[in-house]
Amino acid sequence: MRNTVGDNVRLTLFGESHNEIIGAVLDGMCPGIKVDEEFIKLQLKKRRPMNGETPRIEIDDFKIVSGVFNGYTTGESICLLIENHNTRSQDYEEIKSIARPSHADYVAHVKYHGFNDYRGGGHFSGRITAPIVAVGSIVLKALEKKNIYIGTHIKKCGNVVDQDFLEVEKEVKELSGKIIPVISNIEEDIQNEILKAKKEKDSIGGILQTAIIGLPVGLGQPWFSSVEGKIANAVFSIGGVKGIEFGAGFNFANLKGSSCNDQFEIVNEKVTTKTNNNGGINGGITNGMPIVFNTAIKPTPSIGLSQDTIDFVKGENVETKVTGRHDPAIVRRIAVVIDSIVALVVADLLSMRYGEDFLEYEE
Ligand SMILES: Cc1cc2nc3c(=O)[nH]c(=O)nc-3n(C[C@H](O)[C@H](O)[C@H](O)COP(=O)(O)O)c2cc1C
Repeated sequence: MRNTVGDNVRLTLFGESHNEIIGAVLDGMCPGIKVDEEFIKLQLKKRRPMNGETPRIEIDDFKIVSGVFNGYTTGESICLLIENHNTRSQDYEEIKSIARPSHADYVAHVKYHGFNDYRGGGHFSGRITAPIVAVGSIVLKALEKKNIYIGTHIKKCGNVVDQDFLEVEKEVKELSGKIIPVISNIEEDIQNEILKAKKEKDSIGGILQTAIIGLPVGLGQPWFSSVEGKIANAVFSIGGVKGIEFGAGFNFANLKGSSCNDQFEIVNEKVTTKTNNNGGINGGITNGMPIVFNTAIKPTPSIGLSQDTIDFVKGENVETKVTGRHDPAIVRRIAVVIDSIVALVVADLLSMRYGEDFLEYEE
């Protein structure tokens, strides 16, 4: 199985939801990057459940066992470990051969011939995103040195809607301190929407909008390493992600060239475009405008309402209600996961263009 993403800057993930340890290995990171453990903790906190979401709250104490010396990256493999503590595997014993609708239980059973660790969703669990956030935080901080910032806000959660990015540079920077990442004042509405779904024993989905600012022109390659392709490949690995669109995305179908072409202009000796319907990418290559993309997150599969499914060991149709601890919405928690995994993609793209000391490039 391939658990690695990236060409030059590579992330490898390991672990299962209810096993002793989960973790990540990050290869190809430049030497001399300061590792800010407080920032890593803050980022992990954003991914943890808040009031109304799943009661499985992990403390996410992490340990970096290689690749960091005296507080700086050495340039060798960074191995980061996080222990699992708050597990209740008995929740899964009775339902181990019941396929939760929309979850990966059935496909995992077939693919791994029944040898997969099914407890808590095993390797398919959202828990595996914790190490992505931890190592991604190191990369996010490193990118800030080059004035590259990444931010994701909740554009939609259930029926609650946020505005799109308008003053993108300012808004992206403001998002970095927020536990509920939104631009408008809708934190309470989102919390209420999640609580409502929980009360109904149901779940809701949403849309996350991400922007990357400060990228140089020329990252990415036209064939098979397009910026869209590399971002989509990484983001689609996050459980629950079902759609992605760059810039105007599917709305291009409703527009005409005359209204949606991003017309060029030179402002203060810098090439820009008057609009950014292409989301900062032409021909698979960054054009210097912010990269903007939307990610669709489906409602959490595990719900407390009765649904039809199968017992894949007995070969019978059954009904199921999920009684374990689950999130009525995973939209908010995935925002920081996207920032983190996209930071790795950006580092990889920079490294493909500028080589192993990719943070030393001059514009
Ligand atoms: C942070 C995070 C938390 C998640 N929590 C749950 C959960 O509590 N219950 C659940 O059924 N799915 C949860 N998921 C979603 C499943 O991991 C995902 O639906 C499953 O792997 C199937 O993948 P797919 O939805 O991409 O097809 C979570 C995902 C993430 C990223």
